[in-house]
Amino acid sequence: METVSFIHMADGTREDYAFLEKHEAEYVKGLPTRVYEALQKLEHSFSGYKVSRLTHSLQSATRAMNDGRDDDYVVAALLHDIGDELAPYSHSEMAAAILRPFVSDKLYWIIKTHGVFQMYYYAHLTGGDQHARERYRDNPWFDEAVEFCEHYDQNCFDPDFPTRPLDDFMPVLQRVLGREPAFGETQTA
Ligand SMILES: [Fe+2]
Ligand SMILES: [Fe+2]
Repeated sequence: METVSFIHMADGTREDYAFLEKHEAEYVKGLPTRVYEALQKLEHSFSGYKVSRLTHSLQSATRAMNDGRDDDYVVAALLHDIGDELAPYSHSEMAAAILRPFVSDKLYWIIKTHGVFQMYYYAHLTGGDQHARERYRDNPWFDEAVEFCEHYDQNCFDPDFPTRPLDDFMPVLQRVLGREPAFGETQTA
């Protein structure tokens, strides 16, 4: 079999879907490499800052690594702005969706809401609500979301910081994104 038999999913057979499952499993193995390539593209996203979006992301991950954060946190830091290219109005959600099957609910939530928490540093200067994050005040992970933005995001625009290159993070990307997903079968929709 080189392709499935159907042109409408409703007509697929058990064999068709077993065949596709094998292909998908093979494809998923390339996820760390595809994420690596998506990160490389951040070198050419938003301009105007003193560092590229890639350097910002690498600086975030470097600081997390230097602080002895675990693999999951380092990868979350590295990916937190990966949505900038394709989801400029919901970039936090995009990064969180990539991480979700591989990290804790807490870390998923921190990344998913970081765009709102980050507003604390600039929204009062742009006509927005600096305190928008207060809507999450009762969440048990509130303080850790504040911490992420304070130590691994708002301070990561420094061209003089000794930032590690992307290749240094390939092993940790492979460890985290190469894991069995926590809710595998719901991911194929
Ligand atoms: Fe962000
Ligand atoms: Fe960021």
